[in-house]
Amino acid sequence: MCGIVGYIGPREAYPIVIEGLKRLEYRGYDSAGIALFDGTNLKVSKTKGKVADLETRATQEISKTGNVGIGHTRWATHGVPNDVNSHPHLSNSGDLVIIHNGIIENYDALKQELIKRGYTFQSDTDTEVLINLIEDVKKQEGVKLGKAVQIALNQVIGAYAIAVFDKNKPEEVVVARLGSPLAIGIGKNEDEFFIASDASPFIEYTKNAIYLEDEEMAVIRFHKGVKVRKIKDDTLVDTYIQELQLNLEQIEKGGYDHFMLKEIHEQPKAITDTYRGRLLRNEAIIKMAGVEDNMKKFLNANRIIIVACGTSWHAGLVAEYIFEDLARIPVEVEYASEFRYRNPVIREDDIVIAISQSGETADTLAAIKLAKSKGAFVFGVCNVVGSSISRESHAGAYTHAGPEIGVASTKAFTTQITVLTLIALRLARAKGTITSSDFRQHLLELEMIPKKVEKALQSDNNIKIISDAYKNVSNFLYLGRGYNFPVALEGALKLKEISYIHAEGYPAAEMKHGPIALIDENMPIVVIATKKGHYEKVVSNIQEIKSRKGKIIGIVTEGDVQVKNLADHVIEVPETLESLTPLLTTIPLQLLSYHIAVMLNKNVDQPRNLAKSVTVE
Ligand code: F6R
Repeated sequence: MCGIVGYIGPREAYPIVIEGLKRLEYRGYDSAGIALFDGTNLKVSKTKGKVADLETRATQEISKTGNVGIGHTRWATHGVPNDVNSHPHLSNSGDLVIIHNGIIENYDALKQELIKRGYTFQSDTDTEVLINLIEDVKKQEGVKLGKAVQIALNQVIGAYAIAVFDKNKPEEVVVARLGSPLAIGIGKNEDEFFIASDASPFIEYTKNAIYLEDEEMAVIRFHKGVKVRKIKDDTLVDTYIQELQLNLEQIEKGGYDHFMLKEIHEQPKAITDTYRGRLLRNEAIIKMAGVEDNMKKFLNANRIIIVACGTSWHAGLVAEYIFEDLARIPVEVEYASEFRYRNPVIREDDIVIAISQSGETADTLAAIKLAKSKGAFVFGVCNVVGSSISRESHAGAYTHAGPEIGVASTKAFTTQITVLTLIALRLARAKGTITSSDFRQHLLELEMIPKKVEKALQSDNNIKIISDAYKNVSNFLYLGRGYNFPVALEGALKLKEISYIHAEGYPAAEMKHGPIALIDENMPIVVIATKKGHYEKVVSNIQEIKSRKGKIIGIVTEGDVQVKNLADHVIEVPETLESLTPLLTTIPLQLLSYHIAVMLNKNVDQPRNLAKSVTVE
């Protein structure tokens, strides 16, 4: 969701901010804007639409010079996407300028107060209220910008990452965060500073960054450095400058047409990176520090509650099967957004596992805060290192998938399943719920998954042909049983997200209880029918579809004959253990949605209305 970028230093700010905004496009947005100070004038240009539209607009409206600049991509919350509601926003005097990610929940009450004091508003946004509140505090209290921001934020309820500067003191930019990420890149010799929602906008300039924690603010001064304080009580914070592991190559398309395709093809490597150093087959052990250090807690757990959203929730559903099957620990999988609001029963011997690619999903973050407040132990499975959920968790395991930029999650899903499988296997071993030979067999098979994913990717041409045949339908059904039921849900979600074709995932046996009414000769039904796992039952479901003339696309094990004889199309995946099949059956479903979306000319990497990390509830 919304992205923020800023620069203060000796270079021209415009190209850095614009290129930075392009790097953040993946987060999802509907308008964009920039503010620059050129030594004399504060210039603002903003527009509904894409960063490319902003470039055109800026060329007509402003000179692009200036060493201080802030830019924003907005995903509308308060106020429709239009030019006026786009950020940056100016204060009434025109002196202060702000960009903001998040939501100020009490903005209306604050706005009414400000209106009484003579302030006027151009936009419908909560952000314009905040900048005028800062201006009001600054005037009333006669304080510097940093102090005014601090006093104003203490009156605010909500979430934010902000960057603010004053055109009368442009050598200073004030930033703050609560609930939305904010990184400060520190240039060599501390003579230039970058601000961004994540490090990708400044990675070619510096590898040194400070990640603000929640409830922290920083005053960044040209030539003078960064001072970080607690917003609540003004205490100075000892800052930790991190060395970033990210490199430019990881955030570029590397010859692929889309990030999504690149990330689909990266899965063999991503899965290997996930188990590297953890799966030690020769020694027949799994080593995961976050689990080892808390083994007692895991072994004494009454149950595991998994909280997540979207694709990560689907990975959680797969994990439910794995944990219960292998480690015999009861598991409940919850939508974080429902869990946090329904007064759930949480006990101190519950373990809550939060799954999140971004580590910033607002509902998942709130769910773990709730679980912690009730005494549960929270374990985070995140991809983004240093993200809010990883920091808020008591312990955790990173997926090490590398940056995922396509909005539709692909490698995050398979690497989440890999981490969760490793944890389940480790616990199963510790609990003695798996035999030594089964354990070894799982390690061996898991180690072979990357090669098998490569093989599954070779069905690409076949999948293109199938995509072409069904690209114009309005509805799809996805069916699977057991371990592959969540994969059916995930396949349907992938198709909906990027092609805008309606799709539903169902447990295959549930079809008879409703969705079967939808089946006719126009309905394509993707059925996951791999050899292990209720194969015969799924074949019966396929017969039921066939007798109603539905079009069957079977995801089958290499060499399958029975489904091949029944289905209109089959896509083969290599054979593996039943518990590992989701890592393979997911691949053709990702490719199917990708090719259909490309054939329909959709914006694959940035589908409409979606954001990569959903930082508002
Ligand atoms: C689907 C997708 C979303 C995310 C969801 C959770 O392709 O990307 O459904 O899975 O928004 O995001 P994270 O995993 O970052 O918490």
